[in-house]
Amino acid sequence: MPALATSDIIAVIGAGAMGAGIAQVAAQAGHPVRLYDNREGAAQAGIDGVRRQLEKRVARGKMAQTEVDAIVSRMTPAATLAELADSRLVVEAIVENLEVKRGVFAELESLCGPDTLLTSNTSSLSITSIAAGLERPERVAGLHFFNPAPVMKLVEVISGLATDAEVAETLYATAAAWGKVPVHASSTPGFIVNRVARPFYAEGLRLMQEGAATPATLDALLRQAGGFRMGPFELMDLIGHDVNYAVTRSVFDAYYGDTRFEPSLVQLALVEAGRLGRKSGQGFYDYRDGAEPVSPDFAPAADAALPPLVAEGQLGVIAPLVARAEAAGLEVVRRESISGESRLRLGGLTLTLSDGRCAAERARDEGLEALVLFDLCLDYETASGIALAASPGVDAEARDQATALFQRLGLDAAWLTDTPGLAVLRTVAMLANEAADAVLQGVCSARDGDLAMQAGVNYPRGPLAWADALGLAFVHRTLTHLQQSYGEERYRTSFLLRRKALAEETFHV
Ligand code: NAI
Repeated sequence: MPALATSDIIAVIGAGAMGAGIAQVAAQAGHPVRLYDNREGAAQAGIDGVRRQLEKRVARGKMAQTEVDAIVSRMTPAATLAELADSRLVVEAIVENLEVKRGVFAELESLCGPDTLLTSNTSSLSITSIAAGLERPERVAGLHFFNPAPVMKLVEVISGLATDAEVAETLYATAAAWGKVPVHASSTPGFIVNRVARPFYAEGLRLMQEGAATPATLDALLRQAGGFRMGPFELMDLIGHDVNYAVTRSVFDAYYGDTRFEPSLVQLALVEAGRLGRKSGQGFYDYRDGAEPVSPDFAPAADAALPPLVAEGQLGVIAPLVARAEAAGLEVVRRESISGESRLRLGGLTLTLSDGRCAAERARDEGLEALVLFDLCLDYETASGIALAASPGVDAEARDQATALFQRLGLDAAWLTDTPGLAVLRTVAMLANEAADAVLQGVCSARDGDLAMQAGVNYPRGPLAWADALGLAFVHRTLTHLQQSYGEERYRTSFLLRRKALAEETFHV
């Protein structure tokens, strides 16, 4: 389906943070835009706000004043809903309340022609419910922008039960023509991003609650090893704990209490204390004047003498670590693996990538006296930090050697309490698991699931593409070990991931 023509009028209802931004996006794409808000003066204030934002770009030399004038001249405040009657597309961005939204949609249906597409920017309400009871629910869909709308690329195009496929396609093409990255999703709680992202926060919160590491250490690891732009704690502090907790709570309730979405008591305590993050001056971190910045608990510099590093097996994703050791001038001996496993050895110490078992369990299972597990990195060639955990047989000297090894490769090393799946691996495995379940349940395609997480929340790699690269059998094994470690259904593998692992398939061909 082609995109709407730029001569088509776009109406935006609600001139708050989202509505004004969406109106700007449509006007920047060349459409005449009508902005309506039931608060006196709010629509004009929204347009004035857009002008101020764009003029900041003029001041930075990034936009011409004439361009700003042209964009703003395309935006008109509407005094009544009736003034939106000749719009081709309406985007509703009012208060998040089903009854209020339903009332607005019913009124729109009575005012607009039969071909007007009616959409909602809702984050959490069902598009199916919003459309229910209308005469033509097939032209109702979700058009879910991310905040700030002019900056964030992702737009989730949400189809409710009645939405016509052609309507969804037109919206998809239109969002693309507006310079956005659209994805299709069916109307299910959290849609794609707000569902698939839950483990990013949840696993961080659990690791912290269990004393595996501090928020500052976990944030540093997710950035330096995982390649995420922000760690979970600094991100939750930015989003606000009230908002983040409410989203988790609503997804958890909407999925009838599925433990995979269980909210965290640690986060609830912050909400109860009014420590909402940056906006209140305190969250996991202290933002008040004079507060001391907190550093991650990386191991101090170790200067232990290192025996030759023995690299056994195919190595696979960890191969760049060995190349880094060679580049750092360490003596490296490569040899076949008798067990078939990829392992590194330093004298009597074995080092290997976590597979979701804690070090104590894995050392026992594999008959190893001294085992150090290291965490997953997005890219072992460029990572600058790594999480480690030791089995009980690792003495102070061996620990120093492991620290020295990673430091010589240029990585900050953080020793976690011996915890299943460390930090990055368990987070990525759970993100991929959630994305797999969304695909299994027909919420989105694997392509759109990955795209949504990259364009909507800046993930460094789509979770499913990441799982493909690790090997789905490995991800399945990791999840199974997590499930066994905790005895919790929360870590059950999505059947789709399991089936693909068994069939030796991948999510992306
Ligand atoms: P907001 O509170 O900043 O703005 C809402 C605006 O709607 C206000 O100006 C209010 O006067 C107006 N309004 C309320 N009821 C109205 C009615 N019956 N008719 C006309 N105008 C009405 O809210 P925000 O943050 O812009 O959110 C709007 C919608 O966008 C909600 O559905 C929310 O879930 C969704 N959303 C919000 C995101 C965010 O990060 N804030 C992100 C993505 C979606």
